[in-house]
Amino acid sequence: MTTLTQPGAGAAMATPDASVRPVLSVEDLRAYYVLDLFGVKREVRAVDDISIRIMPNEIYGIAGESSSGKTSLIKTIAGAIQPPLTVVGGKVHFDFRGKSIDLYSGAPADLDAIRWRHLSYIMQGSMNVLNPVRRVRQAFIDFAARHIAAPSRRAFEEVVVAHLDRLHLSPHVLDAYPHELSGGMRQRVTIALATVCKPEFIIADEPTTALDVVVQKRVLAMIREVQREIGSSLLFVTHDMSVHANLCDRLGIMYAGRLVEEGATSDLFASPKHPYTQHLISSLPRIGDRTPREGLKGTPPNLADPPPGCRFHPRCPMAMEVCRTVVPPFVTAGKGRRVACFAAEPETIPDGIANATRSIAA
Ligand SMILES: Nc1ncnc2c1ncn2[C@@H]1O[C@H](COP(=O)(O)OP(=O)(O)OP(=O)(O)O)[C@@H](O)[C@H]1O
Ligand code: SF4
Ligand SMILES: [Mg+2]
Repeated sequence: MTTLTQPGAGAAMATPDASVRPVLSVEDLRAYYVLDLFGVKREVRAVDDISIRIMPNEIYGIAGESSSGKTSLIKTIAGAIQPPLTVVGGKVHFDFRGKSIDLYSGAPADLDAIRWRHLSYIMQGSMNVLNPVRRVRQAFIDFAARHIAAPSRRAFEEVVVAHLDRLHLSPHVLDAYPHELSGGMRQRVTIALATVCKPEFIIADEPTTALDVVVQKRVLAMIREVQREIGSSLLFVTHDMSVHANLCDRLGIMYAGRLVEEGATSDLFASPKHPYTQHLISSLPRIGDRTPREGLKGTPPNLADPPPGCRFHPRCPMAMEVCRTVVPPFVTAGKGRRVACFAAEPETIPDGIANATRSIAA
């Protein structure tokens, strides 16, 4: 883990401009793993009622602990779901330049027409996209050749080589098999593949987690450089808050399949409203501060049987009676901020609940 520098240091767009159309609009999205275990039906509610908008040129980060549903959410947004993951409600709408697409409403979306050209997805684990028995060159031909207007194979390869150079990769990587490259090189090759067609929207799931700190820093700088150069939007997932602090314009915090807080990265780090976000930020290492950090009590909930009310209530130091039974609504809480917490937004506590504000925290 890197240490925290200046939150939102790369932030070009702290609060979305309402006059600009979002590239991505996710509305009330629900995607569950629908399982049939020897005749017993079970649903793992990995993505539950999530709404997000991402603007052109924006870097939006998703943070949250392991199993909170980050990968399930972005697989669903990328149109990369396979059974048992099933969309049970909501919308995913992309507004690309000259092309709009709804992934889950209406006729099945023509994903082949948008993949790589308009939308690219760097999956968790960089080897997933590279075929271990084929040279890297073949991956570029398979994914990018039909989207790049080049009069010949040689001209196409020149475009690829120029792009590899942007990511400080030698043209020789095209002749290599994936296992012949180091982890950092494979990661850069994956990023090169995802960006060579200059897509308007890039989705990246933990693209730097397996790398050492120095390589991680370099890869992150390259992702930002390429994103700025081609002017795309980036949806970036990692559980590492210090990476978010250095890269993202805005952040969404996930807990147990739900979005619990959202805001400009610098605002969220300066004044986290949700107790879970407060915990994530207070546990970050700071240079010179040797104060012991308190862990979060309890364990993450089982998403096949999540706690009723606020899913965070069994672990929340501020939990009240109302939190046991009522789901806190995800409401606007100041400019560019949203939060789902009765303690942060007491006016959202419904009337008629006995002892609604009595503390239940241990
Ligand atoms: N194929 C599957 N079948 C059933 N449940 C699954 C499947 N894949 C993931 N899940 C469950 O869905 C929930 C969300 O998982 P997901 O991988 O989206 O979390 P994550 O936030 O990306 O975690 P990590 O940080 O470890 O990558 C977890 O409870 C997980 O156990
Ligand atoms: S709604 Fe209640 S339990 Fe949930 S985070 Fe807020 S105070 Fe804690
Ligand atoms: Mg994941």
